[in-house]
Amino acid sequence: MSCSFVCGWTMDRKAILSWTFLLCLCVMISSAAGANTVLKDEEELEDWSNRKAPTGRIKYNMRKSLNLDQDGCYLQRGKNASLEECGFNATAKTIFIIHGWTMSGMFETWMRKLVSAVMQRENEANVVVVDWLSLAQQLYPDAVNHTHTVGSDIAAMLNWLQDERALPLENVHLIGYSLGAHVAGYAGTYVKGSIGRITGLDPAGPMFEGVEEQKRLSPDDADFVDVLHTYTREALGVSIGIQQAIGDIDIYPNGGEVQPGCGLADVLSLAGNFMEVMKCEHERAVHLFVDSLMNKEHVSYAFQCTDPQRFRKGICLSCRKNRCNGIGYNARKMRKRRNSKMYLKTRAVTPFGGYHYQMKMHVFDRKHSENADPTFFVKLYGSHNDTGNMPVEIADSIGLNHTNTFLVFTEEDIGDLLKIKLTWEGASESWTSLWSNVRKSLMTWNTKPAKAVLEVRRIRVKAGETQKKYTFCAQDSSQTEISPGDSITYVKCRDGWEVKPKKRLPM
Ligand SMILES: *[C@@H]1O[C@H](CO)[C@@H](O)[C@H](O)[C@H]1NC(C)=O
Ligand SMILES: *[C@@H]1O[C@H](CO)[C@@H](O)[C@H](O)[C@H]1NC(C)=O
Ligand SMILES: *[C@@H]1O[C@H](CO)[C@@H](O)[C@H](O)[C@H]1NC(C)=O
Ligand SMILES: *[C@@H]1O[C@H](CO)[C@@H](O)[C@H](O)[C@H]1NC(C)=O
Ligand SMILES: *[C@@H]1O[C@H](CO)[C@@H](O)[C@H](O)[C@H]1NC(C)=O
Repeated sequence: MSCSFVCGWTMDRKAILSWTFLLCLCVMISSAAGANTVLKDEEELEDWSNRKAPTGRIKYNMRKSLNLDQDGCYLQRGKNASLEECGFNATAKTIFIIHGWTMSGMFETWMRKLVSAVMQRENEANVVVVDWLSLAQQLYPDAVNHTHTVGSDIAAMLNWLQDERALPLENVHLIGYSLGAHVAGYAGTYVKGSIGRITGLDPAGPMFEGVEEQKRLSPDDADFVDVLHTYTREALGVSIGIQQAIGDIDIYPNGGEVQPGCGLADVLSLAGNFMEVMKCEHERAVHLFVDSLMNKEHVSYAFQCTDPQRFRKGICLSCRKNRCNGIGYNARKMRKRRNSKMYLKTRAVTPFGGYHYQMKMHVFDRKHSENADPTFFVKLYGSHNDTGNMPVEIADSIGLNHTNTFLVFTEEDIGDLLKIKLTWEGASESWTSLWSNVRKSLMTWNTKPAKAVLEVRRIRVKAGETQKKYTFCAQDSSQTEISPGDSITYVKCRDGWEVKPKKRLPM
C-alpha cells in the first residue's frame, strides 16, 4: 500500500487522521530508511491464503500439524465433508485465532509463533486461523467496518458447528489481536449461546475507545473476557491499543504504556525503524500470550490496582479475594467483576515474568536532617542469587518520620530472600547531591555542613509471587543510622509483619 494513498485519504476524515498520519509517517520513514527490512519481513510472512483456499473472503484454516509449512485444511460452513477431512473433534477445545488490520495483506510472523504455541499447549484442540486478510487490508476505517461482517461470519460458523456436531460453546476460545479482538467481540454478540472465553490481545483503540459496548469487545461477549493492554500510550490524541478496560479482567503489563525492550534505542539498535517501535509495543501482547502458553511452570501474575501509580508504589500486591490472576493463557475465570484493572512488571525478553516485592520502611529523622532528601538503593540477597543495587523508586521523595512503601522488581529468581542491603548514595556519587552540598557550604559561609543522619530499623517485605510476608531487622541492632555513602544490612527476623506480639491471652 502506498503511503500517498493513505495520506491523501486522511484529508477528509478527521477522526482517524492522527492514527493514519502516524502510520503514514512510519511508512515513509521505513520505506526511506529500511526498504530491506520491509522486504525481509515479507519473506518471513506466511501466505496460507494463496494456497488452494476456498474462494470466500473469510477462511477458516484449521491447522493439522505442528509443521506450519503445511497448508492445514479449510473448514467450510455447510460442508460436512470438510469437518471429516480436517479431523475436527467436537469434544476437544476449539481455539480460533483472529488477526487484525494489515498493510501487507499477509500473515505477520507472530501468527506462526502463536499457532505453534497454542498447538503445543493444547495438542488435541482444534486450532483454527481465521483468515480475513482481504477485508483487513483496507484503509483502517474500512477494515474497522468489516470487523462486524467477520464477527458475524464467525458466529455463523460456530452456530453451524453447534447444529452439525453439537459443539459445546463453553469449549470455544477466541483469541483476537488488535482489530481481531473486536471481531471476536462481534462473534460473541451474534452467536447463539455464550462463548467460553475471548482473549483480546491489545485490542485496537482508534474508533473503539469510548464507543458503546455493542460496538467493541465487552464483558458480555463471552463467559470470560480477558484483555492484555500493551500499547495504550497516547500520541496526537489516539492510542493504538484501547486504553479503557473492556473485559472481565484487563491486564496492563508495565502500566500498558512503555514495554521494556521496545524503546527507540533498543529497537533502532536492532536495525529497526519507527514502525518497528510501534509494532514492538502493540505486538508485545501476543508475545506475552505466547510466553504464557510456553512457560506453564512459571506463571506470571498480575495484581488488581486502581491505577498504575499506586501499583508502582507497591501498594497492590494482594491475592486476596481474586485480586491477583495469572496472565495470558493462565488467567482463571473469576466471578464477574467488571473492569478489574490489573498490573505487573515484566522483563524485556521471554520468559517475561519476574518477581515483585512490596517493601515498607519507616524512615526516622531524629537528628534534624529535614533537608536530607536521600537517594536509596536496595540490594537483595537470596538463596539462589543476588541482585545488583536497585534504586528505591518513590514518586516524590522519601518521606521522613514516615513509612515509605515501594515496589522492587527482580528479573532473576533469587530464591528465598535472606538479606537486604540498604545504601544511601554517597555525596560523591551524584553530581546533584555534590552540587547541593557545595551550595549548602556556600550558604553557610564555608562551615562544614552537618552530616545528614536518618534511621531505618526494619524493612517489611511482601513477596507478590508467594504472598509471603517477612520482617527484616538490622543485622547489628545498634547500627540503624544511615548517612550518605553508608549501608545497613538487614536480615530476616520474623515471618509476617507484626512488630510486637499480639496481647497474650492469660494462660
Ligand atoms: C453431517 O455428518 C454428521 C455426522 O457425521 C451427520 O450426523 C449429519 O447428518 C450430517 N449432515 C449432513 C447435512 O449431511
Ligand atoms: C477428541 O478430544 C477428546 C477431548 O480432548 C479426546 O478425549 C478424544 O480422544 C479426541 N478424539 C479423537 C478422535 O482424537
Ligand atoms: C460499512 O460497510 C457496509 C457494507 O458492508 C456499507 O454499507 C457501509 O456504508 C459501511 N460503513 C461505513 C461507515 O463505511
Ligand atoms: C521528625 O520527628 C522528630 C521528633 O521525633 C523531629 O525532631 C523532626 O524535626 C521530624 N522531622 C521531620 C522532617 O518532620
Ligand atoms: C545470578 O544473576 C546473574 C544476573 O544478575 C546471572 O548472570 C547469573 O547467571 C545468576 N546466577 C545463577 C546461579 O543463577
